[in-house]
Amino acid sequence: MKIVVPKESDAFECRVALTPEISKKLIDMGHHVVLQKGAGVAAGIEDVDYESVGAKIAKSIENLYDKADVVARVSPPSASELAHLPKGGVLIGLLKPYGNDKLIKELAKKKITTFALEFVPRISRAQSMDVLSSQSNLAGYKAVVDAAAVFGRALPMMMTAAGMIPPARALILGAGVAGLQAIATARRLGAIVSAFDVRPAVKEQVESLGATFVEVASDESGEGTGGYAKEMSADYKKRQQAKLEEVMRQQDIVITTAQIPGKQAPILISEKMVKEMKIGSIIVDLAVESGGNCALSEAGKMVIKHGVNIMGYPNFPSRIPYDASHVYARNVLNFFKLLLSSDSKSLAINWDDEIIKGAALCHGGEIVHPTFKALTKKEKEGK
Ligand code: NAI
Repeated sequence: MKIVVPKESDAFECRVALTPEISKKLIDMGHHVVLQKGAGVAAGIEDVDYESVGAKIAKSIENLYDKADVVARVSPPSASELAHLPKGGVLIGLLKPYGNDKLIKELAKKKITTFALEFVPRISRAQSMDVLSSQSNLAGYKAVVDAAAVFGRALPMMMTAAGMIPPARALILGAGVAGLQAIATARRLGAIVSAFDVRPAVKEQVESLGATFVEVASDESGEGTGGYAKEMSADYKKRQQAKLEEVMRQQDIVITTAQIPGKQAPILISEKMVKEMKIGSIIVDLAVESGGNCALSEAGKMVIKHGVNIMGYPNFPSRIPYDASHVYARNVLNFFKLLLSSDSKSLAINWDDEIIKGAALCHGGEIVHPTFKALTKKEKEGK
């Protein structure tokens, strides 16, 4: 089969869907891998690196997509790229389906069998395909490193001939995949770390990494379905705000990662809390793409508000594109293998497989994902 990899078009996207390592594996399986010129450059991978393993660099966009069977990408295609996608082909990527109705309808119309990797169910068998985890892990690490780079002080305590430098204090809001890696990284850099999450189950994980768990006095649990959080009651939010107001004042670095799938991210940091922080403190808002956890975050930039640096860069995994692409490509390969016949040469999609069903957005001209099926239904009903 011909597997193609375009150069990503999204403004904040530096990753690439396949690396030379994975391209070689696909070529060894008997497939052709063709990339758009410069597809890997932003991730630190040159065309020659792909060519050295037998992949081809397309001479033009038309040449890239001509007779393509599978398109592997990271971010959703732009409108102009959509026009090139091969009718009836397969598309695999992080397609940000929420709020992307138009794209989903177009993909269905073009009869593209579309898999949104963010919907791969988080079951044990799918761990090697779990792009959310592989990417969030790096985002959590990079958030701390970027905060440390901007912070005008050291993170570890230092005993020097010129006296003692006290350690920095870091607070991590949301202790999922990104949050746990942020805790581990901040600890390695020597900060005193505390963390908060609405899911009480993570307390033990937070403590096992050497951080303190911030407790909100309430019987309510934030445990939703599939290991994710649910939206909390108004009473809980009030208690949580009071607790965070108390804790935030002492912090130098705050990394926020709190998200609820398919919903606006909860606002955990108010303007009042920012005002009460020390000048020169840092907030990194990893939830900025889903609305942000800090009321003052601005998507796409770093702003200074009340003397506090607030980073609202979207797509943090893309800020560490080489490693993010390498783990992403391995996830893509593992998912792709699931779609293949026993000799790995052709597609043999088992539509009863829980992972395939979970990730499928469109197939055979229809939107097949239960959450988005309503889009076609509404259209048929003329709504
Ligand atoms: P996420 O990115 O959706 O959310 C990040 C964190 O924010 C979560 O820990 C969530 O509880 C927290 N959060 C939500 N609302 C909050 C609020 N108001 N205040 C404070 N924190 C809030 O989730 P992520 O990190 O992608 O995964 C969450 C969990 O999913 C993991 O911790 C794990 O339990 C489960 N998971 C299971 C896997 C598996 O293979 N079985 C793989 C990966 C994750």
